[in-house]
Amino acid sequence: MNAPVVEAHDLAQTYRIKRGWLRAPAQLHAVGGLSFTLQRGRTLAVVGESGCGKSTLARMVTLIEAPSAGRLQLAGIDTATADAAARRTLRRTVQLVFQNPYGSLNPRQKIGATLEAPLAINTRLSRAERSERGRAMLAKVGLRPEHYARYPHMFSGGQRQRIAIARALMLEPALVVADEPVSALDVSVQAQVLNLLADLQQELGLAYLFISHDLGVVRHIAHEVLVMYLGLAMEQGPRERIFGRPLHPYTRALLASTPMVDADRRVPRVVLQGELPSPLAPPAGCVFVTRCPFAAERCRAERPILREVDGRLVSCHFAEQFAAGA
Ligand SMILES: Nc1ncnc2c1ncn2[C@@H]1O[C@H](COP(=O)(O)OP(=O)(O)OP(=O)(O)O)[C@@H](O)[C@H]1O
Ligand SMILES: [Mg+2]
Repeated sequence: MNAPVVEAHDLAQTYRIKRGWLRAPAQLHAVGGLSFTLQRGRTLAVVGESGCGKSTLARMVTLIEAPSAGRLQLAGIDTATADAAARRTLRRTVQLVFQNPYGSLNPRQKIGATLEAPLAINTRLSRAERSERGRAMLAKVGLRPEHYARYPHMFSGGQRQRIAIARALMLEPALVVADEPVSALDVSVQAQVLNLLADLQQELGLAYLFISHDLGVVRHIAHEVLVMYLGLAMEQGPRERIFGRPLHPYTRALLASTPMVDADRRVPRVVLQGELPSPLAPPAGCVFVTRCPFAAERCRAERPILREVDGRLVSCHFAEQFAAGA
């Protein structure tokens, strides 16, 4: 009963990329081994630049793709060994909200039908009961009763994202995986949707895996933060640690590019240099080495171990020195 909503151990996804018939396929390590635990009522924010593996992680956690290695438990059930019935239960337990609510809502379907569809497929509720639940959910996400009979194009982006959230909640999931849910919205609307998500979490005890390329967006909603780079965890831990005193140069660079984030003044700003390497040919040693202003010989030779430093996990050879104020 009290099993964490998500428990991931060394979760990895490797894709085979065909390179023509003369060459052997390449291996792309989209996610190279992530471990984390997510409890009811908590939010894990996964942050990193485009291509670092965030959506790949989302697809694994929502059972769209099986991991190529590692172990994934949802609500205490091992997803690799779960039988068909258990997987059906798990699919209801985990729901996904996408970045683009326009693309994910059926333009020819009224909102009411969109909300009731999961109930029609997965439950034995009567038509009247489905409608009642749909209307109650519409109210819960801050929309009005008359919206029930409208089509997606009649809504603003923020309203459409409310509808997508409502649809995700119809089957009473324990976990919502939200992949850049506010990235397409104006800043003022972003805050409203983030507040809605926070309220729903309070009320329903939901766990969120919240994906964003922007650390600023997750600052208020995250309990834990996982900073990814080229499929690997650079730094992960409690929000206060990550925002208050980031130790990994990559986290510091992400924070420096986020306006209004008041990181500890003792932490000098880090500016990202160079370009993201190809994920098909990640640097040897530390994957961040080509863009790190502190890169040393050791960083090129040896991959740092993810280890605990000052109340969070960091993968940087100099983490202890940074923590000591160097
Ligand atoms: N089905 C696939 N086959 C091959 N490579 C893939 C596949 N899906 C993703 N990739 C590659 O895996 C890496 C991680 O991709 P992913 O979509 O998870 O990144 P992301 O962090 O979600 O990026 P974005 O911020 O742009 O959404 C990328 O290099 C991508 O090209
Ligand atoms: Mg993505």
